Amino acid sequence: MSILAGKKIIVTGVANKKSIAWGCAKAIADQGAEIIYTYQNDRMKKNLVKLVGEDAHMFELDVASDEKIAEAFAAIKEKFDTIDGLVHSIAFANKEELSGNVTEITRDGFQLAQDISAYSLLAVSKYAAPLMTEGGSIVTMTYMGSERSIPNYNMMGIAKAALEAEVRYLATELAPKNIRVNAISAGAIKTLAVTGVKDYQSLLSLSEERTPDKVAVTIEEVGNSCAFLLSPLATGIIGDVIYVDKGVHLS
Ligand SMILES: NC(=O)c1ccc[n+]([C@@H]2O[C@H](COP(=O)([O-])OP(=O)(O)OC[C@H]3O[C@@H](n4cnc5c(N)ncnc54)[C@H](O)[C@@H]3O)[C@@H](O)[C@H]2O)c1
Repeated sequence: MSILAGKKIIVTGVANKKSIAWGCAKAIADQGAEIIYTYQNDRMKKNLVKLVGEDAHMFELDVASDEKIAEAFAAIKEKFDTIDGLVHSIAFANKEELSGNVTEITRDGFQLAQDISAYSLLAVSKYAAPLMTEGGSIVTMTYMGSERSIPNYNMMGIAKAALEAEVRYLATELAPKNIRVNAISAGAIKTLAVTGVKDYQSLLSLSEERTPDKVAVTIEEVGNSCAFLLSPLATGIIGDVIYVDKGVHLS
């Protein structure tokens, strides 16, 4: 069974083959969807081309700029007219905001992290929703540092708390248009983004040791759950944060 056959889905945030978004893209493609990739900048485009080839559908989308967001979605609309889903797998904070004390977080560092990691979901949803004329599904990526004080996760935990609140408000706004919005709270996985967190090895070992079988979650497992949330099998799930961490949040 291909649960996403005939669907057109935007996948943001593939930086390399370790990216959670890459796990999502593989699972979504396996389920029969056509993927519309977006990349942050030329450097990320080169990495993406290595993974998907020159002929894949790719659009530049830097969420730091309203203009670039508008341009990207205009180009996507022109080529595809409508879409059925969007994976938001984007976050950024300065290294200084991912170590030490939260009382040292600067105003600029706070704004940057909130802008790229949380506001961006609202910004892209604004443009994605009108393209989902037959309904759709939006999935973002969060981490349990939003609800617990995880050493050094600091600013990103604060941004993820905002992101999760956005999921609930967006879900309420868009549900009447048959668009569902949910988040996956993934266990820690070694990606480019995670290496920005000071002593990230502890974050990773925490996510491995606390699983009941001592095996950390993979991007493929997160991807499969993402494909499910994008699919009609998940129509009962609205505005939720689904843990895909192999039970780490239980202890
Ligand atoms: N790796 C983990 O342990 C983990 C756990 C839970 C949640 N997450 C979340 O998963 C998501 C993906 O991160 P990842 O771990 O796969 O790391 P990653 O580094 O592979 O992906 C992060 C992506 O964000 C993109 N990005 C950053 N700034 C951007 C901008 N201005 N415009 C457009 N894109 C931008 C990067 O290009 C990159 O593709 C993030 O939201 C992250 O917080 C990660």
